[in-house]
Amino acid sequence: MTPDLAPETRAFLARRHALYVDGAAQPPARPATLEVTDPATGLPISSIALGEAADVDRAVAAARRALHGPWSRLTADERTRILLEFSRLCDARARQFTELAVLDNGMPRAIAESTAPFCSQFLRYYAGWVSKIAGRTLPSAGMGKRPGELQAYTLREPVGVVGAITPWNYSFGMEMLKIAPALAAGCTLVLKPAEQAPLAALLLAELATEAGVPPGVFNVVTGLGETAGAALAAHPGVDKIAFTGSTEVGRLIVHAAAGNLKRVSLELGGKSPVVVFPDADLAQAIPGIAMAGFLLQGQNCVCGSRVFVHEKIAREVAEGVAAFARNMAIGGGFEPGTMIGPVISREQRDRIERLVATAQPEGARLLTGGRRPREAGWFFEPTVFTDCRPDMTIVREEIFGPVIAIQTFADGDLEAIAAQANDTVYGLSGSVWTRDLATAHRMVRLIDAGQVGVNVHAAMDPTMPFGGNRQSGWGREFGEEGLELYLKTKAVTITW
Ligand code: NAI
Ligand code: MG
Repeated sequence: MTPDLAPETRAFLARRHALYVDGAAQPPARPATLEVTDPATGLPISSIALGEAADVDRAVAAARRALHGPWSRLTADERTRILLEFSRLCDARARQFTELAVLDNGMPRAIAESTAPFCSQFLRYYAGWVSKIAGRTLPSAGMGKRPGELQAYTLREPVGVVGAITPWNYSFGMEMLKIAPALAAGCTLVLKPAEQAPLAALLLAELATEAGVPPGVFNVVTGLGETAGAALAAHPGVDKIAFTGSTEVGRLIVHAAAGNLKRVSLELGGKSPVVVFPDADLAQAIPGIAMAGFLLQGQNCVCGSRVFVHEKIAREVAEGVAAFARNMAIGGGFEPGTMIGPVISREQRDRIERLVATAQPEGARLLTGGRRPREAGWFFEPTVFTDCRPDMTIVREEIFGPVIAIQTFADGDLEAIAAQANDTVYGLSGSVWTRDLATAHRMVRLIDAGQVGVNVHAAMDPTMPFGGNRQSGWGREFGEEGLELYLKTKAVTITW
């Protein structure tokens, strides 16, 4: 069911999209296009240009010119004003972003509606940082000098041209995580959005220009990962890559970046634990666990896919989560009340099915879900397995679908329970459900992850650093740490 789309959404979908380079739409060097489909129907909604290495060259050159050109000459106040105007324009287009996210990503409307204001809030947060970027005066008195005879200080400078490579799951949300701090720091960027959900990136680039971001500062090259993405990651004219996506591609990015030793930040996969103690408030915990696993069809890097429940309450929790799952309305993002939309593509749906098919032969017990509820569109039921063990495929592999695997633990020391929770190559997120302060604080320290929630899973805010340990990535986005990714330090010494 497609409602009356805003006229600007219709017009945007009907366009023959180009790349966005140097402040304007530009055709790719070789004319090739890719259909963009609605995951709820599998039908085409628009098409994009397939950029390649030559297009990446052109965009990187534009970004380099802009870095040393107009962008570097603006005052902090001027840059702040531009980012605030960009944020205002994003708010003004909230309906268009929402509709694009439902059609392009398959987001249930309610999630799309909350992602749009998050983007403008993120921009405002980093707009506030622009005027606070400052070095330090240092008490140096080296080189045989007495105090006062030598002046030492640091300058904070933009790292340069940034290549941003982003995934489809929150598309414009993920893109903004890179755009806002990069622009705040004074960097310029070339964004390669995910080919499965590329449309919002092109709208963002247009709005940036409308807001006064000079030509070449923010470029978008749509295209495939193996071509456009790989060219950007390896490009000698790029100073830093900011990547969000699979751990597998994260490794390829690190290799590609080695040529010119560009800086790399990575937000990769996860297999995050949710640990439920017997004193937890189950009325709060059960929906919390279900949403940790099922939000956006489980297509979340922070997805709480491994649930550990104390054996005393294991049955009640498992049945509660399964009942919650059965009540979740499955449908297209525009259908009223939809809580579970489609997954992004046929490939992802098939991958989820393959992983789910390993569960019962390996000894897991299916409580609910496990199937595709309809043939048209890429849907998969919210699924709950119990009797899971640490060596099972569904416990080890990131599924990126609505699948929760429940294990139990017995009374014992917290270190042993945390060791179970940490038994994964990832370390992105985690949550602990308990009313006991000592248990909460001790578990927070024992869980090896970039983020831990107590009685809440994966709360996000622009001020709070976000990123992973181990194979979940390098570096932290959001907050002051997120800005640091785009700044370098120069030490200055002056004698007289
Ligand atoms: P992916 O990691 O292949 O794609 C992410 C981005 O990287 C896209 O823009 C893609 O075009 C680009 N890319 C792909 N290959 C590249 C290469 N060789 N060089 C440079 N860029 C490249 O993720 P995909 O294929 O969409 O999903 C596969 C699995 O990855 C999912 O099932 C999930 O497990 C994981 N994933 C994790 C995400 C996260 O937020 N941590 C987001 C998306 C996927
Ligand atoms: Mg891929």
